[in-house]
Amino acid sequence: MLNDQKVSFSGIQPSGNLTIGNYLGALKNFAEYTESYKCFYCIVDEHAITVRQVPADLRRRSYEMMALYMACGLDPEKATLYVQSHVPAHAELAWILNCFTGFGELSRMTQFKDKSQKHADNINAGLFTYPALMAADILLYQTDIVPVGIDQKQHVELTRDIATRFNQLYPGTFTIPEPIIKKTGMKIMSLADPTKKMSKSDENPNAVVYILDDKDTVIRKFKRAVTDSETCVRMGEGKDGINNLISIYSCFTGKTAEEIEREFDGRGYGEFKLAVGEACADSLDPVREEFARILADKAYLEAMMKKGADEAAYYARKTITKVRRKLGFVQI
Ligand code: TYM
Repeated sequence: MLNDQKVSFSGIQPSGNLTIGNYLGALKNFAEYTESYKCFYCIVDEHAITVRQVPADLRRRSYEMMALYMACGLDPEKATLYVQSHVPAHAELAWILNCFTGFGELSRMTQFKDKSQKHADNINAGLFTYPALMAADILLYQTDIVPVGIDQKQHVELTRDIATRFNQLYPGTFTIPEPIIKKTGMKIMSLADPTKKMSKSDENPNAVVYILDDKDTVIRKFKRAVTDSETCVRMGEGKDGINNLISIYSCFTGKTAEEIEREFDGRGYGEFKLAVGEACADSLDPVREEFARILADKAYLEAMMKKGADEAAYYARKTITKVRRKLGFVQI
């Protein structure tokens, strides 16, 4: 809570091209809070360097993500959109929270286990303490809600534990945040292996639909989506591919699973896959157009990044000053 207004905070890593998983699980939902919450949406470049990045790509993607935030309906006048490394208080609070986070707690994080397997040649301390930086992001703004996909639930729960522990020692420091996870869209699966999460780092481009894919590519990828040997469009156990396509179609059209099953009763998978592809492409077309328009104006993007960073730094400073005082750091 900031000045009697509830706060929504979320972040996305500029570590690859964003997928419809990022869009449906997180980004698409960010805008709905801008009227009634004070919103902070961050491009978390400091998180991204826990795995190696090519500097030119990281820089380009940070601009692209700023443009994409806006293209997805986030108005920089109504939400604070900014780049994490522009606000040094994130790194400062992360260090402090590291001292209030258990080794055992961090060892249990499934994202750490997955990523350290995937990047076995670079299991760095930052990858391990990543959740303390994420807790700092959230707690700096006295956040009430954190809209995310299901894979981030464990990190938000750890953030709550860290904040509660800190508050027990230093009462009244942090607001305890709540994850907001939409039932439909919280875990979009790979189109090539629907038992796996759709991920921006997947090496198989057919497994992933990117927000910026053009219409033909979107439709082609959905046509190739792995399903099962049945023909009936119906949710069910062991039908991961179809369950995933029904969720995606539901997110893009607003129809329930039952309505979708009825709509495709007696029609085959081919027809259904085409409809999913078209619904997805039609929803993303305006986003892509708006993205290209905004991205072309680099000076505007930089001005908005600066404005966002100044706003975020203003609120972050209030929390960090309070934390320093509570800890007993000398203020000069
Ligand atoms: P990241 O960059 O991996 O993903 C950004 C958001 O997209 C969601 N998401 C998905 N949702 C549904 N289906 C999928 N297949 C899918 N893939 C990704 C994620 O749940 C996330 O909401 N640690 C975070 C970034 C972060 C953050 C924060 C988030 C840093 N600080 C503070 C919230 C609050 C991450 O790696 O997200």
